Amino acid sequence: MPARDPLATVREYHDQTKHHFNRFARSLGYLDWATQPDPFRSFDGCRRIGLAEPLRAAATFAPEDAASWRDVSYDELFDPASWPPPLTPGLPAMSVFLRYSLGLSAWKQAGPSRWALRVNPSSGNLHPTESYVVCGPGVAGGQPGVHHYAPDAHALEARCVFDGAAWTAAAAHLPEGSFLAALTSIHWREAWKYGERAFRYCQHDVGHAVAAMRTAAELMGWTCAIVPGWTSHQVAALVGADRDADFEGAEPEEPACLMLVAPRGRESRTSGRGRQCVIDASLADAARAGTWSGRATRLSADRVQWDWIDAAAEASREGGTPPAAPPASRSNAIAPPRDAAIPAARLILQRRSAQSMDGATAIGADRFAALLRRLLPGAGPPFDAFPWTPRIHLALFVHRVDGLRPGLYALPRTDAGLGLLRGAFNQDFAWVRPPGIPDDLPFFLLDHADCRRIARQLSCAQDIAADGCFSLGMLAEFDAALAEDGPAAYRRLFWEAGAIGQSLYLEAEAAGLRGTGIGCFFDDAVHQLLGITDHSLQSLYHFTVGGPVDDARLTTHPGYPWESR
Ligand SMILES: Cc1cc2nc3c(=O)[nH]c(=O)nc-3n(C[C@H](O)[C@H](O)[C@H](O)COP(=O)(O)O)c2cc1C
Repeated sequence: MPARDPLATVREYHDQTKHHFNRFARSLGYLDWATQPDPFRSFDGCRRIGLAEPLRAAATFAPEDAASWRDVSYDELFDPASWPPPLTPGLPAMSVFLRYSLGLSAWKQAGPSRWALRVNPSSGNLHPTESYVVCGPGVAGGQPGVHHYAPDAHALEARCVFDGAAWTAAAAHLPEGSFLAALTSIHWREAWKYGERAFRYCQHDVGHAVAAMRTAAELMGWTCAIVPGWTSHQVAALVGADRDADFEGAEPEEPACLMLVAPRGRESRTSGRGRQCVIDASLADAARAGTWSGRATRLSADRVQWDWIDAAAEASREGGTPPAAPPASRSNAIAPPRDAAIPAARLILQRRSAQSMDGATAIGADRFAALLRRLLPGAGPPFDAFPWTPRIHLALFVHRVDGLRPGLYALPRTDAGLGLLRGAFNQDFAWVRPPGIPDDLPFFLLDHADCRRIARQLSCAQDIAADGCFSLGMLAEFDAALAEDGPAAYRRLFWEAGAIGQSLYLEAEAAGLRGTGIGCFFDDAVHQLLGITDHSLQSLYHFTVGGPVDDARLTTHPGYPWESR
């Protein structure tokens, strides 16, 4: 492959990993079961810190936390008026936070096969995302250090212990009681099944994971947001992903992002840019000088090299230019009352992907409008975790929404998006406000039609795209993002799309429905339907929401043994 300019590489990667009606993106074309990657990584030789089950963890909260800790409802997460005081970060609170963000949600069983599901979804359930927490003394067992989260055991693996003085100097800018979290991707886990397109799915999964962490943080009264300005190299150094000797023979981890998790109200102590906290990158140097232990386990007996994935990863690494933008002003995201308040923790654990939809269930227009409102950038969690200009907009296939005629609709998520969509879409579209939808929601009818056939066809002939209440495509401001923010914006567009997906999953559950992310779609056929003839907008992710049909052949078991008691 010729050495190319990073922007050209990212663009080329994107175009050549499109699915077309007559040709799918390159992959092996079959599943090589002998090399199926282990979905759980651990680091051999590390000290393990067991995390308590949430109930037991809550029983050890400090008295003031125990008094304020309660089962908040899902809708309360979006209502500042009902927020309880933040919990004190410490090992018990960390246990609860990780359990409800990245822990196991269930085990499924079919005959002798068992597989785990997690709070955060993943394309093909392959789970390329690994997570780390970086915290000071007292938060995770005494010493300041870097810990890998092992969701199968619900435990932390102590990878690095910082020198105390180096930590104190480097962490001087961290808000009181805060800690850092970082994500990496093991591309091979996705590439094993999906080949070259897998880099995209790894980015979606990062977005889902960030959103899952943001939502769980809200349960604790914490904020959680990506720290802008950290380079990929610095994130790799902080979590030890660049320690070649620790990864010898094991699949590498590509750094994704660093997040600050802080008790609400304290996130801005060192603010140099509005509400955002600037974390001193000398923390990465402190990590380099720390005491490391553990060797990454190998996940597969063998692996296939996908040069274009490596090229896209390298070209899209964050180079350190902070692309931070002011957070969207908070909009009203209060939903109409539900029959019964749904505890947020329960909703988070019950989230699943529908394997098939019943083709009959409908959603009311009020509930649908409230759900769409939660997808707007100002809704609060999870979108306030992404400190950049929102650049994803929705084209919706409405199949069964009571009071709305079936058809093609649009939800531009910003004013700029509205202009862009109107200019790029087919000029014959109607762009009218449908009756029954509040005027302040930027939701437009483009064309009346029964879209079930075309929705199914565009999403790789998957019935779920036709049999739900609605399905949608997420359109990214592709040219503008790359031109203004550089090649690293390629990853961030998928992260934003993943976060919208996570929000849709939870909203679907809260509405008594179920969602499914759809990574398989025919890219340019979607663009053609909408009249898009260039790269100003590119569809990055599809999603469907409807009445699920459960697979009676599968049995479900709790995520952890303590939950069966
Ligand atoms: C980025 C992404 C793409 C996905 N694409 C599809 C898809 O095209 N078709 C499908 O049936 N499910 C798809 N899924 C759903 C996953 O298969 C599902 O999340 C995974 O099996 C884990 O199950 P869970 O969501 O119930 O935890 C996708 C999920 C994600 C996160």
